[in-house]
Amino acid sequence: MSTIKADQYIDKNKKNVNPEYRNEFHLMAPIGWMNDPNGFIFYKGQYHLFYQFYPYDSIWGPMHWGHAVSDDGVHWQDLPTALAPDQDYDRDGCFSGTAYVEDDILYLMYTGHVVEEGVVRQVQCLAKSEDGIHFEKLKENPVIHEEHIEGLCSIQDFRDPKLFKREGRYYSIVAANTEDKRGQLLIFESENMLDWSKGKVFLEGQKDQGIMWECPDVFELDGKDVIIMSPIQMKQQGYEYSNISSTLAMIGSIDWETLTYELETFHEIDRGLDFYAPQSALNPQGKRVITAWMQMWDRRNLTHELGHQWSGSMTLPREVKIEDNRFVQSPLSSIYDQFHYETVDLEAKEGFQSFADNPQYIHAVLNQESFKMHLAEDGDEYLLLSYQEGILTLSREKAGYAIWGNEGDDYHSRSIELESDHLALEIFIDVSSIEVFINQKMSMSMTFYKKKTERKASIQGLEHASSFKIGVFQ
Ligand code: FRU
Repeated sequence: MSTIKADQYIDKNKKNVNPEYRNEFHLMAPIGWMNDPNGFIFYKGQYHLFYQFYPYDSIWGPMHWGHAVSDDGVHWQDLPTALAPDQDYDRDGCFSGTAYVEDDILYLMYTGHVVEEGVVRQVQCLAKSEDGIHFEKLKENPVIHEEHIEGLCSIQDFRDPKLFKREGRYYSIVAANTEDKRGQLLIFESENMLDWSKGKVFLEGQKDQGIMWECPDVFELDGKDVIIMSPIQMKQQGYEYSNISSTLAMIGSIDWETLTYELETFHEIDRGLDFYAPQSALNPQGKRVITAWMQMWDRRNLTHELGHQWSGSMTLPREVKIEDNRFVQSPLSSIYDQFHYETVDLEAKEGFQSFADNPQYIHAVLNQESFKMHLAEDGDEYLLLSYQEGILTLSREKAGYAIWGNEGDDYHSRSIELESDHLALEIFIDVSSIEVFINQKMSMSMTFYKKKTERKASIQGLEHASSFKIGVFQ
């Protein structure tokens, strides 16, 4: 499999993709399967976003890296496939990884995945590009392999490197797990990106904190060192971590002498049903921006089942910061210029209010003990956003096709406990996704697949809205 073959296939077949559930303002692969964001970076004036990609079918397969660029985080232009599994050390997949720029050269560090007689081997590899479009895998590959992890972890679960440079030294932080199946992050050092030290344990999880930690990203934010990553089977705590594959943000500090992480606190990043493997980039305004795969492992893959020839979307990019020792997020500011707005006057009305035919953005500032919002509504089909007794719940139970998975058949909603009845909600509703931002702090992201066509919005129990604005994507 080569990138040329992939691009020829894409060009020839992308016209067959069924557009019914394709989002309008989110990144999707032109055809085929997408999962994790990879190599998210601002390079030569644009956001570059790579992603786990299998062009030939709408299910997971030997991973390629798809590639797209954007100025604003919502309009994306597809670029040629960046990596294909075409070497001995990556022939069953170019798995997730990160991007790094030095002297205008764009480097990608990714995991080479090989399965030989049922045994998995995962090693870390480099590719580089001078134009940001065509990538060449280095002849020194794999640069981190068995010898670097002797006695530390198994080569079978050793993936998703984060590459960065600090004070003249390169570091790579790679996900792994312990023998007794606890999540683990290993750290490697290098003077030249090619020769790497033996690994050291950077951080290890406890039982209940996941059997494997995937896709770590590590960066400085507002004076703290933050790790974002995706644990598998993190134990549910209250309303948190109820998806089998979760994501979390850790806040703490790195001890650069011992190369270990001192953890202060952690919490779940997004409180919806579909959000995984987030990765960050730093933009020229100095803002740290994240995006994630807006879908989930081990769930019904509806667009595949329906033969639509595509699967998977990214979330909207979000700006993140640390506030009161919490990792908080709000939509990337450049997104706002891409919508037309209208203010809705709901003051005089009472009861069940229908306020728009097909809003793609809703901004509502509410201060009341309860309400129910129906979104993407057509008769008895709708998404429900409800608030009662301090709990905000987003449910897709009545929003079209049932999307079941390993969490069970009746797992169709998620809830957040809030501290006060003051709610500033920002809601983005695309063709098959909803993202709710709460008080510029938290988010709930979810996919949904309607069977009916109307997409009205209404609110029940409205008492007082100090602001109510709707928008449509331009
Ligand atoms: C996370 C993940 C990564 C891996 C990739 C393979 O979703 O399992 O750990 O690199 O997907 O597609």
